[in-house]
Amino acid sequence: MTILPKPRQPELKTSLPGPKTAAIMERDSQHLSTSYMRPYPFVPDHGEGVWLTDVDGNTMLDFFAGIAVSTTGHAHPHVVRAVQEQVTRFTHVCLTDYPQEITTSLAERMVRHVEKPGEKWRVFFGNSGAEAVEAAVKLARNHTGRSHIISTIGSFHGRTYGAITLTGSKTKYKRGFGPLLPNVSHVPYPNPFRPPLGATAGTCGQAVIDHIEGLFQTIIPADEVAAIIIEPMQGEGGYIVPPADFLPKLRSLCDRHGIMLIFDEVQAGMGRSGKMYSFQHFDGQNGMNCQPDIITVAKGIASGMPISAMLAKESVMTWPVGSHGSTYGGNPVAAAAAHATLDLLEGVVKHPGCGDSLMENAAQVGEFIMAELKAMQVEFPFIGDVRGAGMFIGIEFIKPDGSPDGKLRDAASMAMFERGLLNLDCGEAVIRISPPLILTREEAATGLEIMRDALRTLK
Ligand SMILES: Cc1ncc(COP(=O)(O)O)c(C=O)c1O
Repeated sequence: MTILPKPRQPELKTSLPGPKTAAIMERDSQHLSTSYMRPYPFVPDHGEGVWLTDVDGNTMLDFFAGIAVSTTGHAHPHVVRAVQEQVTRFTHVCLTDYPQEITTSLAERMVRHVEKPGEKWRVFFGNSGAEAVEAAVKLARNHTGRSHIISTIGSFHGRTYGAITLTGSKTKYKRGFGPLLPNVSHVPYPNPFRPPLGATAGTCGQAVIDHIEGLFQTIIPADEVAAIIIEPMQGEGGYIVPPADFLPKLRSLCDRHGIMLIFDEVQAGMGRSGKMYSFQHFDGQNGMNCQPDIITVAKGIASGMPISAMLAKESVMTWPVGSHGSTYGGNPVAAAAAHATLDLLEGVVKHPGCGDSLMENAAQVGEFIMAELKAMQVEFPFIGDVRGAGMFIGIEFIKPDGSPDGKLRDAASMAMFERGLLNLDCGEAVIRISPPLILTREEAATGLEIMRDALRTLK
């Protein structure tokens, strides 16, 4: 195990929750939507880098980045400057009706990360992940003239009507909201730690492919399927990485049947996995291709400013003029933040202590975190699995019989918070590690030390 210097520790000035936090939590409970969740009492006041300070002056280490959003940390000076500059020029005109250079150049920049020789891509801009997903499904239906969509169990695609229909992680997102979108089916996600369909870790990818082909013979005519939508690495469902052969095989299946392949990169994309898009860990490996037809991105794209994108091959983006749009989508201020975020992700602008680019930093520091967490499994046998890529890491808590232990996960999450480590759950019994991509090795070591300390209380 590597021993590293501790540059800075969380500073807890009041016992949690502090008085101002408690007062705001109380007002919040009186006036805000009853649907909001509050996993632990935290009310932010300001942030700097990977640190967030609450309204009582407690400074905490951020290991979840506002659900994988704050790629460049909090109040990154390069992002702040870009936003300030754009806001003094103009904040809105409406991209649906008029081009704006800042968004044109953003699209040009984004497609560069997916285009291959002889293949052009185009971009539609929205405001949120769900809006990008809606655009993707509408485009797939419009382009193919087919209606059926296949999604996966455990997936999360957002909370608008189309997106909750596609979502397959928890029934609470759907209960009481029906009727939902017709012609949507769910198939298992190939989770190597809990392989579906009676398969093994090694065979579950092929098993899911066979299952879909089986559906095409029995229940869903393949020539009525517009698209298969899938997270190349599943987020909300438990930070799951599929076996390496799966996405290329899914690509071939879609090709066989003329089905659009949509990769939802809202959570794992924008450098978080150590590559710009998480599917790129599998594309081109062993001569196998898994380039999708459509990609959705949001979250990490603009360091917290609301903007999302649906990227599609030019040959697929055939919907006619006026058929889709968005009043705020591609907002110039958010686009400025996206440019600044890309500067840091690509390494056009360097962040001190983070190597050549934030993408590279995500890969290297993420690898260090994974190795340390795997080493922790010896001391903590209730850590059943550690998985991920880059700074997209899941820790699954298990009972002695190997089944998921959600209660223990919740206790662990609270114990980490009480020691100043902001974290977030996902899946049935998983804590996700999705920090800002500027996290250094030393800061990662500080977070891991807090985790160790918290987990010792659970033994
Ligand atoms: C993979 C994925 N798709 C879509 C969404 C929806 O994004 P938003 O909440 O911005 O609508 C999320 C949000 O967590 C997500 O993780």
